[in-house]
Amino acid sequence: MKDEDAKLSRRDLLKAATIAGLDLAAFGLGSTHAAEPDSTSSEPRTRERTMIGVKFEPRDIVRVGIVGVGLRGTDVLGEFLAIDKVVVNAVCDVVKEKCLRAAQMIEKAGQKTPAIYSNGERDFEQLSHRDDLDFVYIATPWEWHVPQILAGLRAGKHVGSEVPAAYTLEDCWNIVDTSEKTRRHCLIMENCCYDYSETMVLNMVRAGLFGELVHGECAYNHDLREILFENANEGLWRRRHHTLRDSNLYPTHGLGPMARYMNINRGDAFSQIISMSSSHLGLEEYRKEHVPAGDPKWKEVYKCGDYNTSLIKTARSRTILLQHNVSTPRPYDRINLIQGTKGIFRDYPPRIFIDGQEGGHNWTTLERYKEQYESPLWKKQGETARKLGGHGGMDYLMCYRLVQCMREGLEPDIDVYDAAAWSVPGPLSQSSVANGSMPVKVPDFTRGLWQKQR
Ligand SMILES: NC(=O)c1ccc[n+]([C@@H]2O[C@H](COP(=O)([O-])OP(=O)(O)OC[C@H]3O[C@@H](n4cnc5c(N)ncnc54)[C@H](O)[C@@H]3O)[C@@H](O)[C@H]2O)c1
Repeated sequence: MKDEDAKLSRRDLLKAATIAGLDLAAFGLGSTHAAEPDSTSSEPRTRERTMIGVKFEPRDIVRVGIVGVGLRGTDVLGEFLAIDKVVVNAVCDVVKEKCLRAAQMIEKAGQKTPAIYSNGERDFEQLSHRDDLDFVYIATPWEWHVPQILAGLRAGKHVGSEVPAAYTLEDCWNIVDTSEKTRRHCLIMENCCYDYSETMVLNMVRAGLFGELVHGECAYNHDLREILFENANEGLWRRRHHTLRDSNLYPTHGLGPMARYMNINRGDAFSQIISMSSSHLGLEEYRKEHVPAGDPKWKEVYKCGDYNTSLIKTARSRTILLQHNVSTPRPYDRINLIQGTKGIFRDYPPRIFIDGQEGGHNWTTLERYKEQYESPLWKKQGETARKLGGHGGMDYLMCYRLVQCMREGLEPDIDVYDAAAWSVPGPLSQSSVANGSMPVKVPDFTRGLWQKQR
């Protein structure tokens, strides 16, 4: 896609929404309420200042600041502290006790007491301006990701956001524009890209084992009902999003690894999406069974379908099924299926079939291919990763690899174009669902550079 197409797709969307008399903000096409006013996407978008291929400046020590030390931020802090040559100099959370708990962990790891920022919702701005940070990691509720990303980039820091990086189309452009303008990287901390099967299958894809890729299926299917209704942690903010939007609220855990298999932004691109949502009975039934009468939660009206199912077409005519479901009882599953002209892999449990293999059309185990295709990251760091245990080890490997890229002055594995492309199915699925599953063009955040094979 060219620049014009990207603009056109956004114009088309806005036009379609206007024709249908829709409130743009309600459909995720405007900025989040907390986005800053001068971070609009109106300036000309050129490809000269791309962040594609931009390497980190090499450094011996990686100095980290963390915004949000709730459940996730604390886990990832533990991973960073286990990596050599990382120092955590500052932490920020609106809840001071959480900062103090993080500070204790940092001291226990033998590092000096970090600076603490817990003076209100915008104290992250003070953290961003410190001159002893190279990287700011963000693990806050979704509505804060973009303001915190922009603050970090503008203060000259590389940033990494938890998932999704943004949930409006405008904010996807905001992070791309600001990363390009400030020449700082904005990564999406998509840990699932570093999971065991995903890294091994990526090696197999690159070795051509599956032939030419034609189709993929991926998802975030995770029963979060108990967590969503807790009076703590994610229960305090995540359920609210189910009252605001009917869409894929959390697309990146499945789509990130899929995008890597398909070389999205590196030879292929998401071109269009259509989406459909089921009814939203899951949260309602759970509330009926678990929430006492009179609880304020009874005032909530849930909008988000239990199952959101989208189909994405790529510029190279591949198809991707993308699903989201966090509100019905079921075992965890990201599907993680990749089909090529010579074979197929499907996860949960991992199994593989390669054309012509012995035993007819039957699955075989991934184990059989371990010797040849296991990722070097898992081969060398797998033991430490498994010991630390964050999501089976993938959290450690994500952090380890980031630190390696920053110390050695490499390109990041995942850049701002990935952050935008993997997050944008959120607002685009919302727009499609709202308009009778209308196909919606996916903007080209790389401004045409996706065509260059990397
Ligand atoms: N990659 C993964 O596997 C994974 C797993 C869980 C959560 N997440 C993501 O991590 C993020 C955080 O989720 P969580 O489970 O830790 O939620 P949480 O509610 O436990 O933690 C969020 C923290 O942010 C703090 N906070 C809120 N507003 C803030 C502000 N303006 N400034 C500073 N701190 C603020 C809260 O006090 C809280 O401590 C979300 O984006 C979520 O989607 C990712």
